Amino acid sequence: MPSPSNSDELIFFVNGKKVIEKSADPETSLLSFVRKVLRLTGTKYGCGGGGCGACTVMVSRYDPKSKKIHHYPATACLVPICSLHGAAITTVEGVGSIKKRVHPVQERLAKCHGTQCGFCSPGMVMSIYTLLRNHPEPTPEQITEALGGNLCRCTGYRPIVESGKTFCGESTVCQMKGSGKCCMDQDEGSFVSREEKMCTKLYNEDEFQPFDPSQEPIFPPELIRMAEDPNKRRLTFQGERTTWIMPATLKDLLELKASYPKAPLVMGNTTVGPNIKFKDEFYPVFISPLGLPELYFVNTTNDEVTIGAGYSLAQLNDALYFIVSDQPKEKTKTYHALLKHLRTLAGPQIRNMATLGGHVVSQPNFSDLNPILAAGNATINVISKEGTRQIPLNGPFLEGSPEANLRPEEVVLSISIPYSTQWHFVSGLRMAQRQENAFAIVNAGMSVKFEEGTNTIKDLQMFYGHVGPTVVSASQTCKRLIGRQWDDQMLSEACRWVLEEIRIPPAAEGGMVEFRRTLIISLLFKFYLKVRRGLNKMDPQKFPDIPENFVSALDDFPIQTPQGIQMFQCVDPKQPQQDPVGHPVMHQSAIKHATGEAVFVDDMPPIDQELFLAVVTSTRAHAKILSIDISEALACPGVVDVITAEDVPGDNNHSGEILYAHNEVICVGQIICTVAADTYAHAKAAAKQVKIAYEDIEPKIITIEQALAHNSFLSDERKIEQGNVEHAFENVDQIIEGEVHVEGQEHFYMETQTILAIPKAEDKEMVLHLGTQFPTHVQEYVAAALKVPRSRIACHMRRTGGAFGGKVTKPALLGAVSAVAANKTGHPIRFILERGDDMLITAGRHPLLGKYKIGFMNNGEIKAADVEYYINGGCTPDESELVMEFIVLKSENAYYIPNFRCRGRACKTNLPSNTAFRGFGFPQATVVVEAYISAVAAKCNLLPEEVKEINMYKRTSKTAHKQTFNPEPLRRCWKECLEKSSFYARKQAAEEFNKKNFWKKRGLAVVPMKFTIGIPIAFYNQAAALVHIYLDGSVLLTHGGCELGQGLHTKMIQVASRELNIPQSYVHLSETSTITVPNAIFTAGSMGTDINGKAVQNACQILLDRLQPIIKKNPKGKWEEWIGKAFEESISLSATGYFKGYQTNMDWEKEEGDAYPYYVYGASFSEVEVDCLTGAHKLLRTDIFMDAAFSINPALDIGQVEGAFIQGMGFYTIEELKYSPEGVLYSRGPDDYKIPTVTEIPEEISVTLVHSQNPIAIYSSKGLGEAGMFLGSSVLFAIYDAVSAARRERGLSNTFPLNSPATPEVIRMACVDQFIDMIPSDDPSTFTPWSIHVS
Ligand SMILES: Cc1cc2nc3c(=O)[nH]c(=O)nc-3n(C[C@H](O)[C@H](O)[C@H](O)COP(=O)(O)OP(=O)(O)OC[C@H]3O[C@@H](n4cnc5c(N)ncnc54)[C@H](O)[C@@H]3O)c2cc1C
Ligand code: FES
Ligand code: FES
Repeated sequence: MPSPSNSDELIFFVNGKKVIEKSADPETSLLSFVRKVLRLTGTKYGCGGGGCGACTVMVSRYDPKSKKIHHYPATACLVPICSLHGAAITTVEGVGSIKKRVHPVQERLAKCHGTQCGFCSPGMVMSIYTLLRNHPEPTPEQITEALGGNLCRCTGYRPIVESGKTFCGESTVCQMKGSGKCCMDQDEGSFVSREEKMCTKLYNEDEFQPFDPSQEPIFPPELIRMAEDPNKRRLTFQGERTTWIMPATLKDLLELKASYPKAPLVMGNTTVGPNIKFKDEFYPVFISPLGLPELYFVNTTNDEVTIGAGYSLAQLNDALYFIVSDQPKEKTKTYHALLKHLRTLAGPQIRNMATLGGHVVSQPNFSDLNPILAAGNATINVISKEGTRQIPLNGPFLEGSPEANLRPEEVVLSISIPYSTQWHFVSGLRMAQRQENAFAIVNAGMSVKFEEGTNTIKDLQMFYGHVGPTVVSASQTCKRLIGRQWDDQMLSEACRWVLEEIRIPPAAEGGMVEFRRTLIISLLFKFYLKVRRGLNKMDPQKFPDIPENFVSALDDFPIQTPQGIQMFQCVDPKQPQQDPVGHPVMHQSAIKHATGEAVFVDDMPPIDQELFLAVVTSTRAHAKILSIDISEALACPGVVDVITAEDVPGDNNHSGEILYAHNEVICVGQIICTVAADTYAHAKAAAKQVKIAYEDIEPKIITIEQALAHNSFLSDERKIEQGNVEHAFENVDQIIEGEVHVEGQEHFYMETQTILAIPKAEDKEMVLHLGTQFPTHVQEYVAAALKVPRSRIACHMRRTGGAFGGKVTKPALLGAVSAVAANKTGHPIRFILERGDDMLITAGRHPLLGKYKIGFMNNGEIKAADVEYYINGGCTPDESELVMEFIVLKSENAYYIPNFRCRGRACKTNLPSNTAFRGFGFPQATVVVEAYISAVAAKCNLLPEEVKEINMYKRTSKTAHKQTFNPEPLRRCWKECLEKSSFYARKQAAEEFNKKNFWKKRGLAVVPMKFTIGIPIAFYNQAAALVHIYLDGSVLLTHGGCELGQGLHTKMIQVASRELNIPQSYVHLSETSTITVPNAIFTAGSMGTDINGKAVQNACQILLDRLQPIIKKNPKGKWEEWIGKAFEESISLSATGYFKGYQTNMDWEKEEGDAYPYYVYGASFSEVEVDCLTGAHKLLRTDIFMDAAFSINPALDIGQVEGAFIQGMGFYTIEELKYSPEGVLYSRGPDDYKIPTVTEIPEEISVTLVHSQNPIAIYSSKGLGEAGMFLGSSVLFAIYDAVSAARRERGLSNTFPLNSPATPEVIRMACVDQFIDMIPSDDPSTFTPWSIHVS
């Protein structure tokens, strides 16, 4: 192995500046290099595994052969710096900055309101920017495609896509379907006739700077010279533990591979990188043949196309695209199949990094390409020092048979893919949790060759992915079918045989066993239909076509570019121009988000002597800790200390929340100790060396069912009752009983929990910087843990990359854990949770079980309801009791049920403690309500919407807890939603569609909502603000609320601007801190603007009152003059504003109270199409009507509504947390937890802010932070409507379990058909499933 002194210089460029690394370490990723070494912190860490796109950069390379520069997006977390020799990198800082010039991409993302928390924004900018470098005038489809690898948890993507579409040549404004007018405007008169005029423009395109592609930076000429240098030599980069070698020639590569046969050839690093990071693989030597010309080519002969192994999947896509447009269709069936899967495989970043050779050789069991390549009879061309040979890319190769595989010293040069022929069909089939950027649940490559002119099978090949540890060939089945006719009889036998041949054991890793078995034959059926159709096209006389109502089964859902319209009340033309209230003002930090200049906690520069913290967490759900051996960890390089419960000077258990486990662990993921070291890599390596011995304790309670069996609860029962429920049940026509399970949800805020704890030299002070919704809570926990008065603890919170409830309580625990480490070591502590740790430790939304008994009349009128709720609270109290109270108080939703009893209890289990999440129990519990409404409708043979209408509150009424309210805005939202969505016409059209399509069904649903904001405890609604006016007239504003992306600070600036009657530009808002505003309550419950707005208003009014005498004396004076004069007259220019809070109350003994200050109403319509064979669904359209009263900022409010809707839609459909029966959370990153991407959002979305009165709140506004979440359930109920249609047609009952989420698995298994009937069911007593439901 080369010695460190032999290390070559690594040369690349970043943002036009040359980087020379004399001792480049192969283990350093580009992400950590730009962030930590170059201090370019715009590129963000979101997952570390290529799955979120937060770290997207542009890589540019010069190709000396074509003399062209190739720009592509890449996820910096998976790019080793050593792979960058000769490349130019552009980060978001290189695109533009406030200091120099904001680039149009950045400006438009900000101005179109495409940023909320801003953590994903630099990645979004880089994806769009890179696209524009290659296509200065892209199509809308290219924009959508470019964003497919970038996750955003806040916005719901629509405004991001819209900002990208402003670069498209063709008009992209809503002139849909060529009519020249907006598709949503079927009934144009409806809004115009109202008193208030409705507006639809949230930004003004005229303000955009023009985009001039010729102004982009040039590629560094030095890199061109380097690339063209004929005298290339081998380069070696020697790191701390590993060596990276770049061969100069093919011969050199073969020599190296012979010398280091075990060394991986690192190409895209998209398999090698994640394996090192997440599977602890280690390689002392890497060989990197990137750029060797012999690996990059396309060669076409009469029989086949050969593609160099070094081609990225994106280049492969382009090459195939070119070939299919050039060649007759019958020759290119394999290429078409590959192109289809290449569109959805990962996101554009990975497709541009991953190579064909790497894909084939790494043989992932989920591979989307290998099954097709095998079905298409591809061959692998390999080379070694011994010479060249060809390996068939077939079953034995894919199944890892040693004789059929590469030898360690061999290198793949290329892949040859033959043309298809006339009587030959090839297809790729695939089903995934999400359409794009998600590993397949099952995929397949299939091909069949017929005897010329017949439908007699000559050759058949079927390869399946994700059905076992490797891609599997159904070779026996295929062999048995040779000579058979392609007909129904053949299909039925093929299905039986393939299920016998490919057996997925009941406890198989990955779970979904029956679903995967069903997919094996459902995909085969799709292939069967496609081939029958193909045969019919070739000879319609001889081969009958498939039934007309089967045709739609052939195609997957197309990926469409979403479009939408937003309507809101226009500002009164008489309002002074300077007054920003009511205007769609851009988020205060939007430009900084887009340029990457917004500073998040880990973007703060290193502090002298700071240490990094890594956690050691429990691997047992309930166990005694027998011993903790830290000796090996302490001996690891860079380690300063290991911190345990013994090191907590004060409360290790504060209010029932445990910082460091002591003697016992009560969930998997509980923090046992932390390791402090000089780098995170050292801390993490040492944490792995901590040895913990456990002894399991019984019982181990994981699910709600187990908790009920053990009587294990975190709190007492809460109950609300009205009328006489028992009596009512005796007088109804029908009674139904049922259960609804709603699983949990991960917050998946893009910025993981991050803390910087800095111990001060004096008076035991400690300063913490962190992303939190509740700095006071952090202060409380840290003070308790360190046993110091709270006055010594200062918490600073500037912004955070999303929170959604996940940063209300958890930062206090993590802050205290960090503070204890800082206290013990005396060093500043930087504690950044990796995505996997964050998901494991911090938990999320409570899973819920609802049990109902409903009594109703045959006309749909519900007379009595008796409902019980149980939530899985996890192992400590957290906020579970409060969540349960909210559920009991709110879950009647929009319906008046005269005899109503609702009870709830929080269960104590051995799962990590669940916590607040947008909607705080309402989104789970109200699914139960809508489910029993649907069940009543089914029994009465009515539409659910009719039953909703019948039972909905109609006039001023009292809730079940006896709070008076007027549901008029609810009625309006409901009515408008039905009308504007053309519900009944669409329902009829869907029924027509369903009659004509057996395997695809459409479903629709409208969901009404009565939501509340705030808290039933009055003192939790108080707020304070502090406003300083400086002598130059500038104003510094601070208040107790936290900026989480929702735009709270922007609205506060709008309030201050109106109240002080000064332009917004005079007002500055920097951060939230326990120093400026003490004892502030959490920013949650949708009341941030309500309460802080009143406090800011109060402070400003106090100041203005003080200024009045001066203004009166000089009414024409300028603000600055008045301020100067006030100072001269010794008038204080600083004021505290205060809002006592809404006077809410709740008496649980009497079961009554004015629990909430006011109600937010809404309704949403969704229409979906479901693929009954795969369980996939497509959201065709959504219309949301939200009662905003008066919107202080329609852009921000619509952003909250849309973002929450998409988050809700994810919760109700594709987001699925998987736990082992032992209580281990499997879902630890974007690979195995799927939040919506740009491809999931509605093809058409319209949001209308409905005007109403709300005099109690500031400027008569309403808090809209959470309300949209539940409206996402219209997608769930639309799916169930579609599934009901399928079931009706199949003669099945249309009442069936209606749980959440409606994943593809749930949808497919509910659409029972002949294929499901073929699936063997396993006796549950004979195996332990891989995963369980915990609701
Ligand atoms: C976030 C993410 C999402 C993904 N999604 C999908 C998906 O939806 N569907 C899917 O099918 N795949 C998916 N993948 C997997 C991806 O397709 C593979 O990781 C990729 O194709 C591997 O190519 P690479 O160039 O990065 O290989 P590398 O990681 O560089 O190398 C992989 C292996 O191949 C060997 N190798 C590479 N080139 C050669 C060669 N020329 N000769 C001999 N050996 C060679 C290396 O030695 C190494 O062992 C995803 C990956 C990521 C990170
Ligand atoms: S951090 Fe790189 S993709 Fe998520
Ligand atoms: S704005 Fe996209 S993640 Fe917050």
